[in-house]
Amino acid sequence: MTAPERLSIVLPTYNERQNVGRILEELLPLKQHFDLEVLFVDDDSADGTADLVKQLAHGQAGVRLIRRVGRAGLASAIKEGILDATGDVIVVMDCDGQHEPAAVEAAVEALLSSGSDLVVGSRFHPDAAIHGLSEKRTRNSTWANTIARYSLPGYRRLTDYMSGFFALRPEAVLRHVRRVDVNGFKFLYELLSISRGSLRVSEIPLRFQARVAGDSKLDLAIVWDLGVSILHTLLLRAIPRRAISFALVGLSGVAVQMLVVQALMSTDGLAFKQALPIAVVVAASTNYLINNALTFRFQRQQGTALLKGLLKFLLVASLPVLANVGVASTFYNLVSRNTFLAQLAGILVVFVWNYAASSRFVWNTP
Ligand code: GDD
Ligand code: MN
Repeated sequence: MTAPERLSIVLPTYNERQNVGRILEELLPLKQHFDLEVLFVDDDSADGTADLVKQLAHGQAGVRLIRRVGRAGLASAIKEGILDATGDVIVVMDCDGQHEPAAVEAAVEALLSSGSDLVVGSRFHPDAAIHGLSEKRTRNSTWANTIARYSLPGYRRLTDYMSGFFALRPEAVLRHVRRVDVNGFKFLYELLSISRGSLRVSEIPLRFQARVAGDSKLDLAIVWDLGVSILHTLLLRAIPRRAISFALVGLSGVAVQMLVVQALMSTDGLAFKQALPIAVVVAASTNYLINNALTFRFQRQQGTALLKGLLKFLLVASLPVLANVGVASTFYNLVSRNTFLAQLAGILVVFVWNYAASSRFVWNTP
């Protein structure tokens, strides 16, 4: 491939008002070498990031803004940016100063010289330097990378599956980008997972800097999403990601229920028959709250809607609880005297029902 005529840089932003001016200043000199497009994808930041980008775009051909209402997350912002970018080569990077603008040229060069479809800026390349990652996050990222490597047999040689910095050739990668449907942070991981080893990928070392201003948006929910994504890949992408998340939360509910039964029976001296219904309601309620915070956080209920949602969830769940008993005892009577299998059959029915019905009626998703 010859040098790109047009280079697009996609910068996802959420509350980065303090950083957009500086990054733009650092990127604009690239105009000397490229027909440059800088595309900010902002999720309607409350700090006025989008307005500032509009101002900065005045008199600067090639500076563009996509503003989305209803925050849909980093990965979906990256996806939208890539799909809308007009360049022959597209670079995606953070706009908080953690990714050095110098890496842009290095990545484009590597893309051209190696004939790759995708070049990843790696924080864990032997020649990389990480200044901007706490010891704890470095440890967690290394750990996550190890699992990611295991789940992506087509890309074993890579060192950073979670990087937010990469360059790509749209004609090779776009058809995979279209299919990315995660909301969290792990766009790159999903892209690799979807493309199943079919992309030519290489890496360049990254010098990862400390954030210049503002805070990271990484939180527990984002880490949860990564775990779910990896399971999704290991299950050959056959089970919907949301169903996996729902099932994991369900498992935690089983633990809650057992602990509550135990506690009520030992400290309050309740009989099993009395403790069970209380424990079931407690477990269903914690399931609801955790699902609301993780599985369905983009349709999250708040305030009075949270309470209404809980009542709906309990209602939706009450039917399969009865069904559970029915299925389990029928299984026990007709199929097998194995109580474990019988309970498993019951739980499976409850799970499918709960997932389908609560997606639809509690969080209003199809
Ligand atoms: N549009 C949009 N919507 N942008 C977002 C959102 C969002 O919901 N969340 C974060 N961003 C933007 C930020 O404004 C920033 O420019 C960039 O995405 C990275 O976000 P940070 O919050 O600074 O992420 P980080 O530094 O903790 O994480 C970095 O390292 C991760 C690996 O450990 C990023 O490079 C991640 O992409 C990467 O996975
Ligand atoms: Mn950052």
